Amino acid sequence: MAKSQVLLMLSIFGALSTCQTISVSGNPPAGAGIPLEGFVSFSIEFSSFPDFAGNLSQPNTFSNNLLNNLGNLTGTKPFIRVGGNTQDYAIFNSSLDVATVGIIQPNLSTDYPTILTFGPPYFESYATWPDTRFSHGFNLGRNSSSARDALLDSVPYACAALGQDGRLNVWELGNEPDLFKTSAQGIVRPANWTEQSYVDEWLYWTGRIKEVLQGNCSNLTTATEYLYMAPSFAGTGNSLDPIRTWEDGLDNNGGIEYISSHNYIGGATQPGVTLQGTLMNHSMTVASVAHQLNESRLLAGINGSAGLPFILGETNSLYNEGAPGLSNSFGAALWGVDFNLYCAANNIRRVHMHQGTNYRYDSWQPIETNKSSIGTKAPYYGNIAVAAFIGNVSGNTANTTAQNTSIANIPLSNPMEAAYAAYQDTVLQRVMVINMQQYNYSNASTEGPRPVTTYGFQVPESCTGNASVSRLMANGSDAITGITWDGLSYNYELMNGMPVRLNNVTIGESVAVGTNGSFSVDVPHSSAAVVNLRC
Ligand SMILES: *[C@@H]1O[C@H](CO)[C@@H](O)[C@H](O)[C@H]1NC(C)=O
Ligand SMILES: *[C@@H]1O[C@H](CO)[C@@H](O)[C@H](O)[C@H]1NC(C)=O
Ligand SMILES: *[C@@H]1O[C@H](CO)[C@@H](O)[C@H](O)[C@H]1NC(C)=O
Ligand SMILES: *[C@@H]1O[C@H](CO)[C@@H](O)[C@H](O)[C@H]1NC(C)=O
Ligand SMILES: *[C@@H]1O[C@H](CO)[C@@H](O)[C@H](O)[C@H]1NC(C)=O
Ligand SMILES: *[C@@H]1O[C@H](CO)[C@@H](O)[C@H](O)[C@H]1NC(C)=O
Ligand SMILES: *[C@@H]1O[C@H](CO)[C@@H](O)[C@H](O)[C@H]1NC(C)=O
Ligand SMILES: *[C@@H]1O[C@H](CO)[C@@H](O)[C@H](O)[C@H]1NC(C)=O
Ligand SMILES: *[C@@H]1O[C@H](CO)[C@@H](O)[C@H](O)[C@H]1NC(C)=O
Ligand SMILES: *[C@@H]1O[C@H](CO)[C@@H](O)[C@H](O)[C@H]1NC(C)=O
Ligand SMILES: *[C@@H]1O[C@H](CO)[C@@H](O)[C@H](O)[C@H]1NC(C)=O
Ligand SMILES: *[C@@H]1O[C@H](CO)[C@@H](O)[C@H](O)[C@H]1NC(C)=O
Repeated sequence: MAKSQVLLMLSIFGALSTCQTISVSGNPPAGAGIPLEGFVSFSIEFSSFPDFAGNLSQPNTFSNNLLNNLGNLTGTKPFIRVGGNTQDYAIFNSSLDVATVGIIQPNLSTDYPTILTFGPPYFESYATWPDTRFSHGFNLGRNSSSARDALLDSVPYACAALGQDGRLNVWELGNEPDLFKTSAQGIVRPANWTEQSYVDEWLYWTGRIKEVLQGNCSNLTTATEYLYMAPSFAGTGNSLDPIRTWEDGLDNNGGIEYISSHNYIGGATQPGVTLQGTLMNHSMTVASVAHQLNESRLLAGINGSAGLPFILGETNSLYNEGAPGLSNSFGAALWGVDFNLYCAANNIRRVHMHQGTNYRYDSWQPIETNKSSIGTKAPYYGNIAVAAFIGNVSGNTANTTAQNTSIANIPLSNPMEAAYAAYQDTVLQRVMVINMQQYNYSNASTEGPRPVTTYGFQVPESCTGNASVSRLMANGSDAITGITWDGLSYNYELMNGMPVRLNNVTIGESVAVGTNGSFSVDVPHSSAAVVNLRC
């Protein structure tokens, strides 16, 4: 498509404004982030996992199609962490003939059961998605002696399900134990429970789990197979310090594969939370991720944790399952792109976006309920854009130093904008611009035509030629439907989540990279564009 046609297409939008020229290095800058394979991954609420995955008689093919779409872009399907708050409520009962029995106590949560038992059929859900690797979350929170017995009873079932077809990624014991002394949903440890108490319990119970594995799945007990993500703290500044846990010997047995931390950019009912101020705001993302970057930097100096990959085992926009109108909007999808790529650029090496049935921030709702309709939700399109931008990283595992792909943040002066560069084998491949300036299409009559910003880039002369442009687009930041990536819809209604090319969205655009390596790309407010270079 010629430049003039692009401008014609964009002429339905408002006035153009131009930024300064942005220089992008042809090779990755020092410290550029190296994502692990499956960088865009998911965390699924323990109690919701059967809804998302289905079971052997009724596998959830819609979910599987959405996971395949991401796998096709990156060479590896997303890793699935099964866990969250309900992981520490879940009590196994081997006599139960259904996957779960949950009781919602509305004074504690209206979103998920706070009393939960699960039975052997639960583990069928690990068999419905081919070529997918999982972590299974064991209960550490409930520590009555019957709950401890139930934990050990569950282990043979977990290993029977995960010990085949390469399904097991790692295990996890306990979700956000740094809130065990303070949780509003029930305090499960005394005030004198310290980092050392946590470490002692964690080492003791992972040892007991290993003993059970010896009996039922002994080939999962080797040093390269019996591994965990930990400590899975809610963040920094809670009642336990993650750094102290490593100093106190959390990895004394060498049993940890990933350092896992959790992050939410804000809370669903926190006063003052807005789309523009909280989500579509790069400064906010930088300030929030700074906690994890400090933790990662400090841990790099500690025996035991040094050299382990740092991941977000659970993250999403607004804690307490998201806010309607914010977390389910296209603006949240743009936030997700900026947040994920900022993590990637700073060596947070995998991000598990948290999901649960009826949650407002979901990438997709896996089943029809009376609270939410089955479907692909706006944030999924952000996941797709991130996966497409990062490209194939299937060689980058936690135990190799493959560096074929790296991601760099390109600093911009306006906090409502962000830009990133992707490198393959040290050569510049792609540039992403996320224009997070809010455009509310439902207020179009007062907001006027949608403004467009022109971004001028300077790249190496070796990139001269035509570069294709792919867009993450919707009518505005408040759109919750009608979202496309590069003209593709992944909606449930069209082909059960598989990509469908829409004929009413412009595709095939390109920009000309001049012989001096300069080019410009127009990006409407509240949208993102990737320029695919050939350097
Ligand atoms: C996407 O992945 C699925 C599952 O691996 C595979 O069956 C399908 O052929 C792939 N599609 C493309 C276009 O690569
Ligand atoms: C386990 O489930 C069975 C079958 O529903 C039930 O009879 C039994 O009471 C349960 N056990 C416990 C400890 O709750
Ligand atoms: C499998 O899932 C279907 C649909 O949710 C459900 O009706 C059925 O009871 C489940 N089977 C088992 C063994 O849990
Ligand atoms: C919540 O309600 C249950 C009864 O459904 C009650 O037993 C419990 O004490 C209540 N918890 C809180 C924290 O209010
Ligand atoms: C539960 O945790 C408390 C505090 O760490 C500990 O004193 C108690 O022994 C634990 N109970 C069991 C059954 O492990
Ligand atoms: C675990 O091993 C024991 C002893 O071999 C066996 O009886 C039991 O069925 C196994 N459990 C599972 C879930 O496979
Ligand atoms: C462990 O043994 C089981 C049963 O023989 C086999 O199916 C599985 O692939 C093995 N897993 C690993 C990780 O070696
Ligand atoms: C912690 O407090 C409990 C009572 O809540 C007490 O039984 C226990 O001995 C205390 N542990 C330590 C290490 O002080
Ligand atoms: C964006 O976030 C920064 C840092 O938290 C904050 O100072 C600023 O006010 C936010 N911008 C808007 C428009 O709210
Ligand atoms: C991170 O560490 C730096 C240097 O120690 C400190 O100045 C900063 O306040 C810390 N930021 C956060 C968010 O913890
Ligand atoms: C590295 O990790 C991958 C994926 O988890 C695994 O397949 C492979 O066997 C591991 N290699 C070594 C040398 O441990
Ligand atoms: C584009 O086509 C899709 C699928 O047919 C439809 O849902 C959507 O409303 C159309 N968009 C516009 C702007 O016409």
